[in-house]
Amino acid sequence: MTQLDHLGDFKRDYFCGELTEANIGDEVKLLGWAESVRDHGGVIFINLRDKEGIVQIVIDPSLSPEEAYKKAKKVRTEYVLAVRGRVQRRPEGTENPKIPTGNIEVIVDELRILNSCDILPFPIEDEIDVKEEVRLRYRYLDIRRPSMLKKLILRHEVYQATREYLAGNGFLEIETPMLTKSTPEGARDFLVPSRLEKGKFYALPQSPQLFKQILMVGGIERYFQIVKCFRDEDLRKDRQPEFTQIDFEMSFVDEEDVIAISEGLIHYLWKKVLGIELKLPFPRMSYKEAIERYGTDKPDLRYGLELVDVSDIAKECEFKVFRSAVENGGLVKGINIKGGAKFSRKEIDELTKEAINFGAKGMAWIKLENGKVSSPILKFFTEEQKNKLFERMEAEDGDLLIFIADDYETTHKVLGLLRKLVAEKLDIIPEGEWKFTWVVDFPLVEWDEEEKRLVALHHPFTSPKDEDIDRIDEAINNKDIALTFKSKAYDLVLNGEEIGGGSIRIHRPDIQKKMFELLGISDEEAEEKFGFLIKALKYGAPPHGGLAFGLDRILALMTNSESIREVIAFPKTQKGICPLTEAPDYVKEEQLEELGIEIEIENK
Ligand code: AMO
Ligand code: AMP
Repeated sequence: MTQLDHLGDFKRDYFCGELTEANIGDEVKLLGWAESVRDHGGVIFINLRDKEGIVQIVIDPSLSPEEAYKKAKKVRTEYVLAVRGRVQRRPEGTENPKIPTGNIEVIVDELRILNSCDILPFPIEDEIDVKEEVRLRYRYLDIRRPSMLKKLILRHEVYQATREYLAGNGFLEIETPMLTKSTPEGARDFLVPSRLEKGKFYALPQSPQLFKQILMVGGIERYFQIVKCFRDEDLRKDRQPEFTQIDFEMSFVDEEDVIAISEGLIHYLWKKVLGIELKLPFPRMSYKEAIERYGTDKPDLRYGLELVDVSDIAKECEFKVFRSAVENGGLVKGINIKGGAKFSRKEIDELTKEAINFGAKGMAWIKLENGKVSSPILKFFTEEQKNKLFERMEAEDGDLLIFIADDYETTHKVLGLLRKLVAEKLDIIPEGEWKFTWVVDFPLVEWDEEEKRLVALHHPFTSPKDEDIDRIDEAINNKDIALTFKSKAYDLVLNGEEIGGGSIRIHRPDIQKKMFELLGISDEEAEEKFGFLIKALKYGAPPHGGLAFGLDRILALMTNSESIREVIAFPKTQKGICPLTEAPDYVKEEQLEELGIEIEIENK
């Protein structure tokens, strides 16, 4: 066991990474971790690292005291050190251009070993090939890696800039409770049992939605919060069970006001944190246009591969699948994969399999290669139909045309997913581009086939457009009318990811009541779930609306990270587990008893 020293009154006067050639000749005191230790024929070189960077320290028996040298011999990787020494220029030929302090080094006069370190499960460096589960189990080591530290610093900068911008625009930061009632964001709730009211549960908030609306009734006018939200849903790379929103709400506003503040904030963040000047306003497209051109309500505008409707041509041809799709009220759409003719038959078959995975019945294709055309379906087209099809698809030699025939929803969904897959396969997605778009004019409601009722596309407090509010009575008894209604909702999409969404809310209790009626939510159910909000609306609620950004998604995009787990200090795995703490975990029998809970699961 290495003899350890006390920190005592030792204080650093520089961070390692701060030293420059201007410090040559200075005596300096440093603290940090031994990133690497090399013994070169008696002279020991240690790269000392702290949060600002690395500097080389040298323990040379001819220049350093014997005690320091003896200690240096014991230093291993990631030992914690305190160092006093002199800054000197590195001897010619020994400079290291890879680090900012590569022209200098520190000759050690005093060395203290403050702590040792076990054998590391992985090296503390940026490029490592380690399972994520291991990184998360040893997150404290993972965070020592400079690339991770950089992400956490950026996250901090985004918090600060957000507060500057919103507080600067008159928004008041107010906290809302974590132990609360269920909020209607459409996911499953995390529940917390109550000890004092046995048998009752709090729900962790899926968002502060209801509270921020109540703050508007309270006359706050402009609220914001950087807030944790909890949703028990299936996890993916862009979803965590607890994640962070930049949430805000404003009174006496319409869509344009909320959009303007949102754009202002995003512009400020990009400028302040990344030094990038974004062009405002961001483009907008309707939900319908997004679905019909890109097959998704979060279109990635960094590349083309748009969807093309060929139903009118397809319904004339002899290919039964195409004809009957259109005859049954569906449609046929295609994508021209420019340069896709290089896909082999095997690759096209794989693409077809994916299409079927995504929900299609098949995928028809036409390949134009070296003046030749090959396709399993072209035999069903007359020369004239073929020419029309090629013209519509803007087909050229070298292209691969793919087609899906199905109902409206499936055709768009499948082509939207294929579009993304193909762009990734062809590696045509440019890096370093920021393609924002608002998606607006969402349908107010959609039909839930399982529940056989209308459900709100956003949440049931989202306001219909003014012209539809006037027709809401008609729609209550006619779902086809309801399905044509548009809402005052808007989503902001960046590079194919939904980074924020919000709406203008219903502020009048009479309209809210009708909205519940439209959604088939009974008075009792509404009263039980959101009675407190409905009541608040009766006491002079101002017109209001707002938005929430997914902070983790914004950061993942800003840092070009694979997953939002990379920008969260202590994330959960895809299975919702925290490998560091091993949460969730069983609890003591006594704790359950206090709560009046009995567990029935086996092998506990
Ligand atoms: P919404 O549910 O659209 O709106 O959420 C807002 C934004 O939060 C992000 N987000 C998530 N990020 C990580 N993991 C998740 N599980 C997750 N779920 C959502 C998305 C999304 O755009 N109360 C409304 C906002 C409002 O109407 O003002 C709301 O929560 O980037
Ligand atoms: P088949 O006549 O079943 O051999 O299909 C001929 C081609 O049409 C194959 O490439 C199928 O993948 C494709 N196909 C089948 N059903 C559909 C569909 N609904 N939409 C598009 N292509 C389809």
